[in-house]
Amino acid sequence: MNSEFDRRIDRRGTASYKWDDNARLFGRAELLPFWVADMDFATPAPILEAIRQRSSHPVLGYGIRFDEYYEAIEDWLRERHHWTVPREWFKFCPPSSIVGIQGIISTLTNAGESIAVPTPTYGPLMNVVTMSGRRLIRCPMPETGGRYELDPGVIETRLEDDTRLLILCSPNNPTGRVFTRGELEALAALARRRDLTVISDEVHADLVMPGHRHLPYGSVGGERTVTVMSPNKTFNTAGLPQATLVIPDPELREKFQSFLDRVQLNHDSTFGAVGMIAGYTQCAAWLDRLIPYLAANHQYAAEYLDANVNGVRKTVAEATYLAWLDFRETGMDEGDIMARLVERGGVGLYAGTDFGPEGRGFFRMTLGCPRAQLARGLEGIARAFS
Ligand SMILES: Cc1ncc(COP(=O)(O)O)c(C=O)c1O
Repeated sequence: MNSEFDRRIDRRGTASYKWDDNARLFGRAELLPFWVADMDFATPAPILEAIRQRSSHPVLGYGIRFDEYYEAIEDWLRERHHWTVPREWFKFCPPSSIVGIQGIISTLTNAGESIAVPTPTYGPLMNVVTMSGRRLIRCPMPETGGRYELDPGVIETRLEDDTRLLILCSPNNPTGRVFTRGELEALAALARRRDLTVISDEVHADLVMPGHRHLPYGSVGGERTVTVMSPNKTFNTAGLPQATLVIPDPELREKFQSFLDRVQLNHDSTFGAVGMIAGYTQCAAWLDRLIPYLAANHQYAAEYLDANVNGVRKTVAEATYLAWLDFRETGMDEGDIMARLVERGGVGLYAGTDFGPEGRGFFRMTLGCPRAQLARGLEGIARAFS
């Protein structure tokens, strides 16, 4: 039976980063893109309808946040993540989660100081450290057969005397790990002992595969935490800027507010706000249909690669629509693998070292697309390595 997610939508010509920039990024315009983390599915209808309705009013001026805005987030966190968050803990950073994280970095640390980041991780979480003039301390997560662990023992050996901040990506992009309560509580104990504030980037939190459960770090880590959430991955609305930060510590909240005031970031994008409210209040059922489709895509990719491609294995994803593919058995270096994927396979994937040197030998493939398109991409990988 066909699913709504099987519908093929041509995104070419929509100024899509994923579909319209391949010639520049990969040297080849005709390429099936599986790199950037957005999905090729339609954004849920209630979000599109809410935007249509709002745009029937002719004025798009500055907005404020009504009760409805807060309630949408509060209810979502309580119902989906069993987390009751007092309203005053919320801060918002409409341009993006990374701008919010940059604000926390500039609030809590000085130039030249070190910040710890468990790796592999989403590249901009490392760039925001180094490009802010802070020193990046990579804390490689121990890996066995493509499964990574959050090991505070390892992290502790990497910390320096001036390390006051750690940036976690949970669930982890690119590896798809959903960290367990045990892992997160052990990190929280380390943070208390070493006087660390932990920023937890949880923008993939809603996309957890059956059998796993995401635990917001702020619900186990206490006061010295910043949990960053967003509807953008959940509902495929990356083009609608929106990010929520949960900051329990009143002093940190006040300092972060000064950052928002300094750069005049106190108003949402009109459509970002409308889209977020519609997503959180009307699209839970859509998400409940999406997750099994993504889980089936993960399984399809794993089985296809096992059956058809020597030396390439898919690691198990506990969350996200991202597949972390292990090419190490091919014995080839990253540049050669990329060249084969692009030239012979006609597919664009993210190179593993974009997520830190620990990603060498891996590539990340976005599976948020109709299964037929995924199949064509996997066939491309098979062609590249036949
Ligand atoms: C872990 C993580 N954080 C942040 C972002 C960026 O989010 P935003 O849409 O807020 O820019 C992404 C996008 O891929 C991501 O994977």
